[in-house]
Amino acid sequence: MSDAEDPAFEQYWADALQPKWADKSESSQRRLDWWRDAKFGMFVHWDPSSLAASEISWSKQFSDDNGEQLLDNPRPSPDLHGIREHRFWLDWFKPAVPREVYDHLHKSFYPGMFDADKFVGAAKSAGMKYLIQVTKHHNGFCMWDTKFTDFNIMATPYHRDLVVAMAQACARAGIRYGIYYSQRDWHHPDYGPERMARYNEYMSRQVEELLVKCPNIEVIFFDCEQYYPWQLWDGKKLFQMIHRLRPKIIINDRCGVPADCTTPEQSIGEYNLERDWESCMTFTGFWSWHGFQAPVIPFEECLRHLVRCAGGGGNLLMNVGPLPTGQIDPREADRLQRMGAWLATNGESIYGTRGGPFPPGDYGVSTRQGDTVYVHVLKWPEAELMLPPLAGRVIASRVLSGGSAVVQQTDAGLKIFVAPSDRQDPDTIVVLQLQRP
Ligand code: GLC
Repeated sequence: MSDAEDPAFEQYWADALQPKWADKSESSQRRLDWWRDAKFGMFVHWDPSSLAASEISWSKQFSDDNGEQLLDNPRPSPDLHGIREHRFWLDWFKPAVPREVYDHLHKSFYPGMFDADKFVGAAKSAGMKYLIQVTKHHNGFCMWDTKFTDFNIMATPYHRDLVVAMAQACARAGIRYGIYYSQRDWHHPDYGPERMARYNEYMSRQVEELLVKCPNIEVIFFDCEQYYPWQLWDGKKLFQMIHRLRPKIIINDRCGVPADCTTPEQSIGEYNLERDWESCMTFTGFWSWHGFQAPVIPFEECLRHLVRCAGGGGNLLMNVGPLPTGQIDPREADRLQRMGAWLATNGESIYGTRGGPFPPGDYGVSTRQGDTVYVHVLKWPEAELMLPPLAGRVIASRVLSGGSAVVQQTDAGLKIFVAPSDRQDPDTIVVLQLQRP
Protein backbone atom coordinates (compact mmCIF):
# COMPACT_ATOMS: atom_id res chain seq x y z
CA MET A 1 0.00 0.00 0.00
CA SER A 2 1.46 3.35 -0.91
CA ASP A 3 1.46 6.19 1.57
CA ALA A 4 -1.07 7.99 -0.56
CA GLU A 5 -3.67 5.33 0.16
CA ASP A 6 -2.94 4.95 3.83
CA PRO A 7 -6.34 5.42 5.50
CA ALA A 8 -4.71 6.14 8.87
CA PHE A 9 -2.85 9.03 7.32
CA GLU A 10 -5.92 10.30 5.46
CA GLN A 11 -7.75 10.41 8.78
CA TYR A 12 -4.80 12.14 10.41
CA TRP A 13 -4.71 14.75 7.65
CA ALA A 14 -8.47 15.30 7.83
CA ASP A 15 -8.05 15.86 11.57
CA ALA A 16 -5.21 18.31 10.96
CA LEU A 17 -7.52 20.42 8.79
CA GLN A 18 -10.16 20.59 11.56
CA PRO A 19 -9.69 23.34 14.10
CA LYS A 20 -12.31 22.16 16.59
CA TRP A 21 -11.41 19.40 18.98
CA ALA A 22 -14.86 17.83 18.90
CA ASP A 23 -14.78 17.56 15.11
CA LYS A 24 -11.64 15.47 15.15
CA SER A 25 -11.52 11.71 15.32
CA GLU A 26 -11.47 9.99 18.70
CA SER A 27 -7.85 8.90 18.26
CA SER A 28 -6.82 12.44 17.49
CA GLN A 29 -8.56 13.70 20.61
CA ARG A 30 -6.85 11.08 22.79
CA ARG A 31 -3.43 11.81 21.28
CA LEU A 32 -3.29 15.08 23.18
CA ASP A 33 -4.28 13.73 26.59
CA TRP A 34 -0.78 13.74 28.09
CA TRP A 35 -0.10 17.21 26.71
CA ARG A 36 -3.32 18.64 28.14
CA ASP A 37 -2.49 17.17 31.53
CA ALA A 38 1.07 18.48 31.40
CA LYS A 39 0.14 22.18 31.37
CA PHE A 40 3.67 23.51 31.73
CA GLY A 41 6.62 23.18 29.38
CA MET A 42 9.96 24.83 28.67
CA PHE A 43 10.81 26.55 25.39
CA VAL A 44 14.52 26.89 24.65
CA HIS A 45 15.68 29.55 22.20
CA TRP A 46 19.38 28.99 22.04
CA ASP A 47 22.00 28.99 19.30
CA PRO A 48 25.18 30.94 18.42
CA SER A 49 23.20 34.19 18.28
CA SER A 50 23.40 34.20 22.09
CA LEU A 51 27.00 35.36 21.61
CA ALA A 52 25.75 38.64 20.22
CA ALA A 53 23.23 39.08 23.06
CA SER A 54 20.79 40.28 20.43
CA GLU A 55 17.61 38.70 19.16
CA ILE A 56 17.90 35.30 17.53
CA SER A 57 17.70 35.64 13.72
CA TRP A 58 15.89 38.96 13.71
CA SER A 59 19.02 40.84 14.68
CA LYS A 60 20.79 39.63 11.57
CA GLN A 61 21.47 42.69 9.53
CA PHE A 62 20.72 42.23 5.88
CA SER A 63 21.84 45.59 4.59
CA ASP A 64 25.19 46.37 3.02
CA ASP A 65 24.96 49.97 4.12
CA ASN A 66 25.73 51.78 7.33
CA GLY A 67 24.17 49.15 9.54
CA GLU A 68 21.20 51.25 10.58
CA GLN A 69 18.85 50.85 7.65
CA LEU A 70 17.04 47.73 8.82
CA LEU A 71 13.66 48.90 7.62
CA ASP A 72 14.91 49.10 4.06
CA ASN A 73 16.03 45.52 4.12
CA PRO A 74 13.25 42.99 4.36
CA ARG A 75 14.26 39.41 4.97
CA PRO A 76 14.23 36.96 2.10
CA SER A 77 10.73 35.59 1.89
CA PRO A 78 9.08 32.94 -0.23
CA ASP A 79 7.02 35.90 -1.40
CA LEU A 80 4.50 33.85 -3.33
CA HIS A 81 1.74 36.23 -2.41
CA GLY A 82 3.65 39.45 -2.25
CA ILE A 83 4.10 39.01 1.46
CA ARG A 84 7.06 40.73 2.96
CA GLU A 85 8.11 39.43 6.30
CA HIS A 86 7.54 41.44 9.44
CA ARG A 87 9.18 44.67 8.43
CA PHE A 88 7.87 46.44 11.47
CA TRP A 89 9.65 44.01 13.75
CA LEU A 90 13.07 44.65 12.39
CA ASP A 91 13.44 47.94 14.12
CA TRP A 92 12.71 46.38 17.45
CA PHE A 93 15.39 43.73 17.46
CA LYS A 94 18.43 45.82 18.11
CA PRO A 95 21.35 45.87 18.26
CA ALA A 96 21.55 44.76 14.68
CA VAL A 97 24.45 42.49 13.88
CA PRO A 98 26.06 42.89 10.46
CA ARG A 99 25.51 39.78 8.42
CA GLU A 100 29.27 39.20 8.00
CA VAL A 101 29.42 38.92 11.76
CA TYR A 102 26.13 37.13 12.34
CA ASP A 103 26.78 34.33 9.88
CA HIS A 104 30.16 33.63 11.52
CA LEU A 105 29.10 33.70 15.16
CA HIS A 106 29.05 29.92 15.20
CA LYS A 107 32.82 29.84 14.74
CA SER A 108 33.13 31.16 18.28
CA PHE A 109 30.32 29.09 19.78
CA TYR A 110 31.71 26.97 22.56
CA PRO A 111 29.14 26.41 25.33
CA GLY A 112 31.64 24.75 27.60
CA MET A 113 29.39 24.97 30.66
CA PHE A 114 26.47 23.18 29.01
CA ASP A 115 25.35 20.17 30.98
CA ALA A 116 22.29 18.62 29.39
CA ASP A 117 21.20 16.78 32.53
CA LYS A 118 21.51 19.87 34.64
CA PHE A 119 19.65 21.91 32.06
CA VAL A 120 16.78 19.46 31.81
CA GLY A 121 16.92 19.08 35.58
CA ALA A 122 16.09 22.77 35.91
CA ALA A 123 12.99 22.24 33.77
CA LYS A 124 12.01 19.22 35.78
CA SER A 125 12.41 20.84 39.15
CA ALA A 126 10.40 23.79 37.85
CA GLY A 127 7.52 21.34 37.46
CA MET A 128 7.69 21.44 33.68
CA LYS A 129 6.60 18.26 31.94
CA TYR A 130 7.99 18.83 28.48
CA LEU A 131 10.69 20.77 26.69
CA ILE A 132 10.72 22.22 23.17
CA GLN A 133 14.14 23.10 21.80
CA VAL A 134 14.91 25.36 18.86
CA THR A 135 16.73 23.10 16.44
CA LYS A 136 16.85 25.60 13.57
CA HIS A 137 15.62 29.17 13.81
CA HIS A 138 15.00 31.56 10.90
CA ASN A 139 18.76 32.13 10.65
CA GLY A 140 19.13 28.59 9.29
CA PHE A 141 21.76 27.41 11.77
CA CYS A 142 21.26 23.78 12.81
CA MET A 143 21.93 22.76 16.40
CA TRP A 144 22.36 19.12 15.40
CA ASP A 145 24.78 17.16 13.25
CA THR A 146 22.81 17.25 9.99
CA LYS A 147 23.99 15.77 6.73
CA PHE A 148 22.08 18.31 4.70
CA THR A 149 24.04 21.50 5.39
CA ASP A 150 27.44 22.42 6.80
CA PHE A 151 25.89 25.33 8.66
CA ASN A 152 25.49 23.29 11.80
CA ILE A 153 26.84 22.56 15.24
CA MET A 154 29.69 20.43 13.84
CA ALA A 155 31.13 23.60 12.29
CA THR A 156 31.56 25.11 15.76
CA PRO A 157 34.56 24.45 17.98
CA TYR A 158 32.12 22.72 20.33
CA HIS A 159 31.50 20.02 17.77
CA ARG A 160 28.83 18.10 19.68
CA ASP A 161 25.22 17.51 18.71
CA LEU A 162 23.14 19.66 21.05
CA VAL A 163 19.80 18.35 19.90
CA VAL A 164 20.64 14.73 20.56
CA ALA A 165 22.21 15.71 23.89
CA MET A 166 19.07 17.51 25.02
CA ALA A 167 16.70 14.84 23.70
CA GLN A 168 18.61 12.12 25.52
CA ALA A 169 18.76 14.09 28.75
CA CYS A 170 14.98 14.56 28.52
CA ALA A 171 14.50 10.83 28.05
CA ARG A 172 16.66 10.15 31.11
CA ALA A 173 14.72 12.66 33.21
CA GLY A 174 11.26 11.55 32.09
CA ILE A 175 10.58 14.89 30.41
CA ARG A 176 8.79 14.75 27.08
CA TYR A 177 10.81 16.25 24.26
CA GLY A 178 9.82 18.30 21.23
CA ILE A 179 11.52 20.35 18.54
CA TYR A 180 10.99 23.83 17.19
CA TYR A 181 11.81 23.96 13.49
CA SER A 182 11.54 27.16 11.44
CA GLN A 183 10.48 26.83 7.84
CA ARG A 184 11.80 30.32 7.21
CA ASP A 185 15.49 30.08 6.46
CA TRP A 186 17.61 33.17 5.85
CA HIS A 187 20.71 31.22 5.07
CA HIS A 188 19.75 28.38 2.77
CA PRO A 189 20.24 29.27 -0.92
CA ASP A 190 17.04 27.53 -2.00
CA TYR A 191 14.75 29.43 0.35
CA GLY A 192 12.72 31.79 -1.83
CA PRO A 193 10.22 31.66 -4.65
CA GLU A 194 12.48 30.25 -7.38
CA ARG A 195 13.58 27.04 -5.74
CA MET A 196 10.95 26.46 -3.10
CA ALA A 197 10.38 22.83 -4.17
CA ARG A 198 14.05 22.11 -3.54
CA TYR A 199 13.94 23.91 -0.25
CA ASN A 200 10.92 21.87 0.83
CA GLU A 201 12.82 18.71 0.05
CA TYR A 202 15.64 19.94 2.27
CA MET A 203 13.23 20.78 5.07
CA SER A 204 11.46 17.45 4.87
CA ARG A 205 14.74 15.54 4.97
CA GLN A 206 15.92 17.51 7.94
CA VAL A 207 12.75 16.89 9.91
CA GLU A 208 12.97 13.22 8.99
CA GLU A 209 16.60 13.13 10.09
CA LEU A 210 15.65 14.64 13.45
CA LEU A 211 12.82 12.19 13.99
CA VAL A 212 15.10 9.27 13.24
CA LYS A 213 17.99 10.55 15.38
CA CYS A 214 15.78 11.35 18.35
CA PRO A 215 13.16 8.66 18.82
CA ASN A 216 11.62 10.59 21.73
CA ILE A 217 10.49 13.61 19.73
CA GLU A 218 6.79 13.89 20.58
CA VAL A 219 6.01 17.45 19.52
CA ILE A 220 6.91 19.60 16.51
CA PHE A 221 6.62 23.35 16.82
CA PHE A 222 6.76 24.67 13.27
CA ASP A 223 7.11 28.38 12.78
CA CYS A 224 5.72 30.26 9.85
CA GLU A 225 3.09 32.96 9.63
CA GLN A 226 -0.53 31.86 9.64
CA TYR A 227 -1.07 33.42 6.22
CA TYR A 228 1.38 31.04 4.53
CA PRO A 229 -0.77 28.21 3.19
CA TRP A 230 0.29 24.60 3.68
CA GLN A 231 0.76 24.22 -0.08
CA LEU A 232 3.78 26.50 0.17
CA TRP A 233 5.59 23.91 2.30
CA ASP A 234 4.16 20.91 0.49
CA GLY A 235 2.50 20.36 3.82
CA LYS A 236 0.52 17.24 3.09
CA LYS A 237 3.63 15.38 1.99
CA LEU A 238 5.51 16.69 4.99
CA PHE A 239 2.80 15.56 7.41
CA GLN A 240 2.68 12.19 5.68
CA MET A 241 6.38 11.63 6.22
CA ILE A 242 6.05 12.71 9.85
CA HIS A 243 3.01 10.54 10.44
CA ARG A 244 4.76 7.51 8.98
CA LEU A 245 7.58 7.89 11.51
CA ARG A 246 5.65 9.21 14.48
CA PRO A 247 1.89 8.61 14.29
CA LYS A 248 1.32 10.10 17.77
CA ILE A 249 3.16 13.36 17.17
CA ILE A 250 1.61 16.65 18.27
CA ILE A 251 2.02 19.53 15.81
CA ASN A 252 1.16 23.18 16.31
CA ASP A 253 -0.79 25.44 13.96
CA ARG A 254 2.17 27.04 12.20
CA CYS A 255 2.44 24.91 9.12
CA GLY A 256 -0.55 26.25 7.27
CA VAL A 257 -3.10 23.89 8.86
CA PRO A 258 -4.86 24.08 12.23
CA ALA A 259 -3.31 20.76 13.31
CA ASP A 260 -3.39 20.19 17.06
CA CYS A 261 -3.15 23.51 18.86
CA THR A 262 -2.98 27.25 18.45
CA THR A 263 0.06 29.13 19.69
CA PRO A 264 -0.58 32.59 21.07
CA GLU A 265 2.76 34.28 21.42
CA GLN A 266 3.70 36.73 24.18
CA SER A 267 0.06 36.74 25.28
CA ILE A 268 -2.21 34.45 27.25
CA GLY A 269 -4.74 32.59 25.12
CA GLU A 270 -8.44 33.17 25.47
CA TYR A 271 -10.74 30.87 27.42
CA ASN A 272 -11.49 28.09 24.99
CA LEU A 273 -12.64 24.60 25.70
CA GLU A 274 -13.08 23.61 22.06
CA ARG A 275 -9.59 24.16 20.78
CA ASP A 276 -6.29 23.31 22.40
CA TRP A 277 -3.81 26.12 22.83
CA GLU A 278 -0.40 26.80 24.22
CA SER A 279 0.88 30.28 25.00
CA CYS A 280 4.58 30.82 24.58
CA MET A 281 5.85 33.51 26.90
CA THR A 282 9.26 35.01 27.55
CA PHE A 283 11.03 36.11 30.72
CA THR A 284 12.53 39.19 29.07
CA GLY A 285 10.33 40.07 26.10
CA PHE A 286 12.99 38.51 23.88
CA TRP A 287 13.39 34.92 22.76
CA SER A 288 17.12 34.56 22.98
CA TRP A 289 19.58 35.88 25.53
CA HIS A 290 19.77 39.66 25.66
CA GLY A 291 22.41 40.25 28.26
CA PHE A 292 21.97 41.06 31.91
CA GLN A 293 20.55 44.51 31.26
CA ALA A 294 17.27 43.00 29.95
CA PRO A 295 14.93 42.79 32.95
CA VAL A 296 13.45 39.40 33.84
CA ILE A 297 9.82 39.21 34.96
CA PRO A 298 9.28 38.38 38.63
CA PHE A 299 8.24 34.93 39.79
CA GLU A 300 4.73 36.16 40.59
CA GLU A 301 4.13 37.18 36.99
CA CYS A 302 5.39 33.88 35.69
CA LEU A 303 3.06 32.10 38.08
CA ARG A 304 0.09 34.20 36.98
CA HIS A 305 0.87 33.23 33.39
CA LEU A 306 0.69 29.56 34.29
CA VAL A 307 -2.51 29.90 36.29
CA ARG A 308 -4.19 31.97 33.58
CA CYS A 309 -3.21 29.41 30.96
CA ALA A 310 -4.55 26.49 32.98
CA GLY A 311 -7.77 28.34 33.75
CA GLY A 312 -8.27 29.29 30.11
CA GLY A 313 -7.93 25.71 28.94
CA GLY A 314 -4.37 26.02 27.63
CA ASN A 315 -0.74 25.26 28.36
CA LEU A 316 2.15 27.55 29.19
CA LEU A 317 5.38 27.13 27.24
CA MET A 318 7.78 29.32 29.18
CA ASN A 319 10.83 30.35 27.23
CA VAL A 320 14.39 30.48 28.47
CA GLY A 321 17.18 32.23 26.55
CA PRO A 322 20.36 30.50 27.71
CA LEU A 323 23.76 32.17 27.83
CA PRO A 324 26.40 31.42 25.20
CA THR A 325 28.09 29.33 27.88
CA GLY A 326 25.16 26.90 27.81
CA GLN A 327 23.78 27.93 31.20
CA ILE A 328 20.30 29.15 31.99
CA ASP A 329 20.38 32.82 33.01
CA PRO A 330 20.61 32.66 36.82
CA ARG A 331 17.66 35.06 37.15
CA GLU A 332 15.50 32.78 35.02
CA ALA A 333 16.77 29.77 36.94
CA ASP A 334 15.61 31.48 40.13
CA ARG A 335 12.06 31.99 38.76
CA LEU A 336 11.98 28.38 37.59
CA GLN A 337 13.02 27.04 40.93
CA ARG A 338 10.30 29.07 42.65
CA MET A 339 7.71 27.82 40.17
CA GLY A 340 8.72 24.29 41.08
CA ALA A 341 8.40 24.99 44.80
CA TRP A 342 4.94 26.44 44.28
CA LEU A 343 3.83 23.53 42.10
CA ALA A 344 5.12 21.00 44.61
CA THR A 345 2.40 22.13 47.01
CA ASN A 346 -0.26 23.48 44.65
CA GLY A 347 0.19 21.22 41.63
CA GLU A 348 -3.13 19.39 42.06
CA SER A 349 -4.89 22.62 41.05
CA ILE A 350 -2.93 22.74 37.76
CA TYR A 351 -1.78 19.35 36.44
CA GLY A 352 -4.42 17.16 34.88
CA THR A 353 -7.05 19.87 35.24
CA ARG A 354 -9.18 21.49 32.54
CA GLY A 355 -10.19 25.13 32.31
CA GLY A 356 -13.40 26.42 33.91
CA PRO A 357 -16.17 25.95 34.85
CA PHE A 358 -16.12 29.68 35.67
CA PRO A 359 -14.87 31.88 32.87
CA PRO A 360 -11.73 33.86 33.67
CA GLY A 361 -12.22 37.37 34.98
CA ASP A 362 -10.48 40.14 36.86
CA TYR A 363 -10.56 37.96 39.97
CA GLY A 364 -8.60 35.15 38.34
CA VAL A 365 -9.57 31.79 36.86
CA SER A 366 -10.87 28.36 37.74
CA THR A 367 -9.70 24.85 36.98
CA ARG A 368 -11.41 21.53 37.57
CA GLN A 369 -10.79 17.85 37.85
CA GLY A 370 -13.51 15.28 38.53
CA ASP A 371 -15.78 16.60 41.25
CA THR A 372 -13.30 19.24 42.39
CA VAL A 373 -13.17 22.87 41.29
CA TYR A 374 -10.20 25.12 42.08
CA VAL A 375 -10.91 28.82 42.11
CA HIS A 376 -7.64 30.70 41.68
CA VAL A 377 -8.12 34.16 43.10
CA LEU A 378 -5.34 36.34 41.74
CA LYS A 379 -6.97 39.61 42.73
CA TRP A 380 -9.60 39.95 45.43
CA PRO A 381 -12.41 42.28 44.46
CA GLU A 382 -13.05 45.18 46.82
CA ALA A 383 -16.54 43.87 47.48
CA GLU A 384 -17.24 40.14 47.77
CA LEU A 385 -16.15 37.59 45.21
CA MET A 386 -19.23 36.58 43.23
CA LEU A 387 -19.04 33.87 40.58
CA PRO A 388 -21.76 32.78 38.15
CA PRO A 389 -24.18 30.00 39.18
CA LEU A 390 -22.97 26.43 39.07
CA ALA A 391 -25.13 23.45 38.10
CA GLY A 392 -23.67 21.08 40.71
CA ARG A 393 -24.06 21.50 44.46
CA VAL A 394 -21.00 22.52 46.48
CA ILE A 395 -20.77 20.21 49.49
CA ALA A 396 -17.47 21.37 50.97
CA SER A 397 -14.94 24.14 50.56
CA ARG A 398 -11.49 25.05 51.87
CA VAL A 399 -8.37 26.98 51.00
CA LEU A 400 -5.78 24.68 49.45
CA SER A 401 -2.90 26.11 51.47
CA GLY A 402 -4.93 25.70 54.68
CA GLY A 403 -7.71 27.82 56.13
CA SER A 404 -11.38 28.04 55.50
CA ALA A 405 -13.44 29.40 52.68
CA VAL A 406 -17.09 30.23 53.25
CA VAL A 407 -19.23 29.64 50.19
CA GLN A 408 -22.82 30.75 49.74
CA GLN A 409 -24.54 29.07 46.84
CA THR A 410 -27.76 30.59 45.50
CA ASP A 411 -29.52 30.78 42.14
CA ALA A 412 -27.71 34.07 41.57
CA GLY A 413 -24.31 32.47 41.88
CA LEU A 414 -21.53 31.61 44.27
CA LYS A 415 -20.29 34.02 46.91
CA ILE A 416 -16.87 33.22 48.30
CA PHE A 417 -15.31 34.65 51.46
CA VAL A 418 -11.78 34.00 52.65
CA ALA A 419 -10.35 35.83 55.65
CA PRO A 420 -7.41 38.03 54.64
CA SER A 421 -5.13 35.98 56.91
CA ASP A 422 -5.92 32.84 54.88
CA ARG A 423 -5.24 34.47 51.52
CA GLN A 424 -2.06 33.77 49.61
CA ASP A 425 -0.14 36.05 47.37
CA PRO A 426 -0.24 35.88 44.37
CA ASP A 427 -2.82 33.08 44.20
CA THR A 428 -5.39 32.01 46.80
CA ILE A 429 -6.77 28.66 45.72
CA VAL A 430 -10.27 27.90 46.94
CA VAL A 431 -11.16 24.21 46.61
CA LEU A 432 -14.83 23.45 46.00
CA GLN A 433 -16.02 19.91 46.43
CA LEU A 434 -19.05 19.19 44.26
CA GLN A 435 -21.62 16.51 44.83
CA ARG A 436 -20.75 15.01 41.45
CA PRO A 437 -18.35 15.85 38.56
C1 GLC B 1 7.89 34.12 16.12
C2 GLC B 1 9.28 34.67 15.94
C3 GLC B 1 10.31 33.82 16.50
C4 GLC B 1 10.00 32.99 17.70
C5 GLC B 1 8.62 32.42 17.65
C6 GLC B 1 8.21 31.73 18.92
O1 GLC B 1 7.38 33.55 15.03
O2 GLC B 1 9.57 34.94 14.61
O3 GLC B 1 11.48 34.56 16.66
O4 GLC B 1 10.88 31.95 17.71
O5 GLC B 1 7.70 33.32 17.25
O6 GLC B 1 6.85 31.49 18.98
